[in-house]
Amino acid sequence: MDKDISKIIASEDEIREKVKELAEKINSDYKGKKMTVVGILKGGVIFFADLVRKIDTECQMDFMAASSYGSSAFSSGEIIIKKDLSLDVTGKDVLIVEDILDTGNTLYLLKDYILKKGAASVKICTLFEKPSRHIKPIKADYTGFIVDDLFIVGYGLDYDEKYRNLPYVGVLKPEIYS
Ligand code: IMP
Ligand code: MG
Repeated sequence: MDKDISKIIASEDEIREKVKELAEKINSDYKGKKMTVVGILKGGVIFFADLVRKIDTECQMDFMAASSYGSSAFSSGEIIIKKDLSLDVTGKDVLIVEDILDTGNTLYLLKDYILKKGAASVKICTLFEKPSRHIKPIKADYTGFIVDDLFIVGYGLDYDEKYRNLPYVGVLKPEIYS
């Protein structure tokens, strides 16, 4: 375990099992549909890569990037789109794949944005969710793990652009960010 981590929240094996479980639900819900899977950079990219390889229905892939966090562990609430879709999602069934649903500011904006682009449907798949932190009326359609109000890193999740490459997810020691 990395020296900056106090506790493992999801091990490699637990993540692998969870990704499989989520993909099974998605495969049954989207049977026969033409999906566009939108990964949210950068945090969602590792989850995205593992999840899409378990999706067995026809799917296109695209990416968006939005930001509010900077190098701070606390959301500013202001979200900007840093990278737009490159595909036309008109009439498509879009599945957004994100690392974590925290305050909900990011996904609230992105879901609305993709719907306004003419998508037939937009659902959200997030690996982690912190329900106690939601401030926007938003719900994930597929959630991997529910977590308490702790700052976690690994498997795509960063603090100050570090720890994304950890193969597991753990709680970052508070002395690192305070
Ligand atoms: P939201 O807009 O507040 O829901 O936050 C979404 C983004 O904040 C996520 O995509 C993450 O990049 C980041 N974030 C929220 N909580 C954590 C955490 O515990 N660790 C690392 N990043 C986080
Ligand atoms: Mg993110």
